[in-house]
Amino acid sequence: MKELLLFLSCVLCVSADVLHEDIQIVGCSDSDGEEMYGLDGEEKAYADFNKKEEIYPQPPFVVNPFHYQEGAYENAVANQQICRENMKRVGKGMKDYPLEQVAPSGVMIYTRDEVEFGEKNTLICHVTGFYPAPVNVSWTKNGQKVTGSSINTPYPNKDGTFTQISRLQFTPQLGDIYSCAVQHLALTQPATKFYEVDSSAQSDPGVGPAAFCGVGLTVGLLGVAAGTFFLIKGNECS
Ligand SMILES: *[C@@H]1O[C@H](CO)[C@@H](O)[C@H](O)[C@H]1NC(C)=O
Repeated sequence: MKELLLFLSCVLCVSADVLHEDIQIVGCSDSDGEEMYGLDGEEKAYADFNKKEEIYPQPPFVVNPFHYQEGAYENAVANQQICRENMKRVGKGMKDYPLEQVAPSGVMIYTRDEVEFGEKNTLICHVTGFYPAPVNVSWTKNGQKVTGSSINTPYPNKDGTFTQISRLQFTPQLGDIYSCAVQHLALTQPATKFYEVDSSAQSDPGVGPAAFCGVGLTVGLLGVAAGTFFLIKGNECS
């Protein structure tokens, strides 16, 4: 009974801890703009000002695809106007106050899925800790520029800096070298990370377990043999 109570109180304290964090961000510059809704650190919707619609980047495992209220995109367009107008007024009032600049504190490159040679995968360039948004991310394969990557809208971090993630579809082939180069206002030259498809990149589920099993079995059998040996020796002595 005591154990059951302990378990129940644990469930309660966990569920009491669950607080969802819903954010909306409106950002603008003279040439660029962003409106994004996020939940618990993930992008849920953003306004695509090129396609002129609200985009819901939901992963395939979402059970019931949802949309926010009607008019989200029209709202975003209106908010951009307000944002630009406010910027102008603040700029005038505060005599073009200096812009704070923080270079990205982290750039990471990795694959979305475990690497299998010849199997489609996604390279991810994760950039964080910069201000202001956005960054530009460009990709190369074996030194040649590649196109077709996508980048999400800037997501705000707790400390006021931003995170952005660029994705590139690719098919891993042994020896290929990819890079992502990050441009930001506070960087004098791009921050570049490399990813090499080498033989250690491929996870090989066949050999590992088999080897462990073989070694384990051998050690086990040796143990049984040694045990039997000492048992017999022990019996002889007594
Ligand atoms: C990103 O690319 C655009 C278009 O090429 C350019 O205007 C902008 O200055 C670049 N931003 C940075 C931070 O380099």
